[in-house]
Amino acid sequence: MWEYTDTVTEHFQNPRNVGEIPDAQGTGDVGSLACGDALKLTLKIENDCIVDAKFKTFGCASAIASSSALTEMVKGMKVEDAEKITNEDIADFLGGLPKEKMHCSVMGREALEAAIADYRGLVLPSAEGEIVCECFGVTDIEVSRAVKESNLRSVEEITNFTKAGGGCGKCEDKLRALLLETVSEDLKTVPVIKKAKKMTALQKIKQIEEVLDREIRPELKKDGGDIELIDVDGDFVTVSLRGSCTSCTNSETTLKEYVEKKLRELVLDSLIVEEDK
Ligand code: FES
Repeated sequence: MWEYTDTVTEHFQNPRNVGEIPDAQGTGDVGSLACGDALKLTLKIENDCIVDAKFKTFGCASAIASSSALTEMVKGMKVEDAEKITNEDIADFLGGLPKEKMHCSVMGREALEAAIADYRGLVLPSAEGEIVCECFGVTDIEVSRAVKESNLRSVEEITNFTKAGGGCGKCEDKLRALLLETVSEDLKTVPVIKKAKKMTALQKIKQIEEVLDREIRPELKKDGGDIELIDVDGDFVTVSLRGSCTSCTNSETTLKEYVEKKLRELVLDSLIVEEDK
């Protein structure tokens, strides 16, 4: 079972603004029934101000709550202000969403963007991207955008935010490549990179092993866990958690919030740590 906030539960049980506005000035239709989630957002717009918003959603409790929240957020807003709403804003309005359900807030933002684009007679760039995940019809543009905006650092996080990779898994290699490409591009645009030092592959592996031995492994061993370095491929560091870490429900948090952060701090800012599956 997912842990929902009271606000999510309330919006799911009593969704606001359900329905469809006839003769809407902006319509955003995103997702598909085949993919398990679909949202149709209709906006009534007068003098560039959203005077009414309604939605029809097919999906889980988070999808319904996110859609309901979105309509409440945009009503009364100027279009230019509404277009600045991010998926994080929708999740924040709801007091947070389980990380596996963040794609519901992304679907809300996409529907809003599509409705505003429709109002302005524009075609969104994501509609022109190349499909990288056939199961959920997700494009490369959508994946790269999610990686940048939400600072994603693993394929699992991409799945949480976009659903890409959550089906047959055939797109996993493409998602990894996109992740690395996007993170590398992002780092190039950061003006000051603290640890952007040049190092050979061998130096990188040695430093990673050293930090694992000196800093990380002793901490994990205190709780009966351990870690093994499996591979280093560019900036991707594959590790295997051992001992009590394997059965720990917080292993993903350990990996991202402790191991990855430590390696970035002490070896290289751009490292991405993944678990060997
Ligand atoms: S192609 Fe992406 S999960 Fe199947």
